[in-house]
Amino acid sequence: MINDPLGDIPLDDLRRGLRRSADLIADYLEGVSARPVTPACKPGDVRRGLPPTPPREGEPLDVILDDFGWIADHSTHWPHPGFLAYFAASGSGPGVIAEALAAGLNVNAMLWRTGPAATELEGLACDWLRGMMGLPPTFQGHINDTASVSTLVALAAARSAPRELRIRERGMSGRPDLPELVIYASEHAHSSVDRAALTLGLGLSGVRKIAADAALRMNPAALDAAICADRAAGRRPLAVVATAGTTSTAAIDPCAAIAAICRREELWLHVDAAYGGAAAICEEMRPAFAGMEQADSIVMNPHKWLFVPIDSSVLFVREPGRLREAFSLVPEYLKTQDGAEQNLMDLGVALGRRFRALKLWMVIRAFGSEGLARRVRRHCAMAAEFAAWIGGRPELELAAPPSLGVVCFRVRAGDDADERTQRLLAHINADGAVFLSHTRLAGRLVIRVAINGLRTTDATLDRLKEITAAAIGRK
Ligand SMILES: Cc1ncc(COP(=O)(O)O)c(C=O)c1O
Repeated sequence: MINDPLGDIPLDDLRRGLRRSADLIADYLEGVSARPVTPACKPGDVRRGLPPTPPREGEPLDVILDDFGWIADHSTHWPHPGFLAYFAASGSGPGVIAEALAAGLNVNAMLWRTGPAATELEGLACDWLRGMMGLPPTFQGHINDTASVSTLVALAAARSAPRELRIRERGMSGRPDLPELVIYASEHAHSSVDRAALTLGLGLSGVRKIAADAALRMNPAALDAAICADRAAGRRPLAVVATAGTTSTAAIDPCAAIAAICRREELWLHVDAAYGGAAAICEEMRPAFAGMEQADSIVMNPHKWLFVPIDSSVLFVREPGRLREAFSLVPEYLKTQDGAEQNLMDLGVALGRRFRALKLWMVIRAFGSEGLARRVRRHCAMAAEFAAWIGGRPELELAAPPSLGVVCFRVRAGDDADERTQRLLAHINADGAVFLSHTRLAGRLVIRVAINGLRTTDATLDRLKEITAAAIGRK
């Protein structure tokens, strides 16, 4: 094949570059545990080590790939076994391979016609996941980049659902006939709910934060009372967001009780199972999610706890027609005669869609549903064991009931408990072997350990205990 000087790089260069990249990735993953989880760099350091201007003529791939070392050295190592902060975006080998293959195909699956395989694999992989989570076949899934977008899309559908409001046709501005619309979520719900309200024109005042019980789960009686109060004041309740695995403590809201209220009040129920939903693939853990299957929409992020590289957020909707009612617009140039049941562009804001399904499909195939469940179980068991260790330390206390893979703890109460907890967190993170984050519960600072990384083992937790014990001893 003749190389076109104005075309792509020669295929032999591509092959060589991919082979070297395969080694770079595998070497990186092989050595990642020897690195500190977070790099010792300051803002601006990364740019200082890289060419400041673009080259006039193209550089050889080898020269460019030489800079990968610098980039890796200045990355926070999410695949590190000691990454126990936030929720690790726990990628895996099959997911890495799928990302490269998807880039090779580079399809834009806006229509079935522009990406038949991408469109149908998205349906297939989401159907598999739905079955693995024990959800009824009425739910249809599609994949967004993040849970924030999935929740935005779900709440946009909820906003369009009451047809008498005529939101689709008339929008929301300049409408004295439109009552104030309200969304309900627990005080521990993720900020993506507030952000969706900002984006959808409900404003922050359109989000009612519902008090949680002692286990930090939404209190259904408080939800009921808030809905009644809003109706009495002439406002229009629209939707409830229940969280199945909150960001701070992995608490699971009582979905069945919340679903009963939503049914009675004719409100859309969206379940944010972005993190916790992965645990529903373990049959014995499914009772904790009872009621989730009654939702109108559910978001679950395989990139949080199902070993699919970021970005992979599945939005399941009971009546996908609701999404089409909210979003479908087909300009002339996108009309087709294919008779396809589904064009992904009809399901949300984006027209262009990358082939996100390939990595979910490959990860499920490579590990199997039981293989994935075993890994999730191991993380929960490690969290329970670590929580028991905290419970046995007189200087420390659990700050919330341990749930799924999350353990929250702090230095035992006292006037300066917050400062001492902050110092303890700084000591632990300074070691470099682990990386923890914090949250605040009832106004008090709390250290948070989230175990969902594929490379995290008992040895990681032993090291965390060692560092924690030493740091307590030092204070
Ligand atoms: C419960 C929950 N929902 C939503 C999100 C937002 O996720 P994303 O980054 O995919 O938008 C998070 C993030 O951690 C989360 O914990």
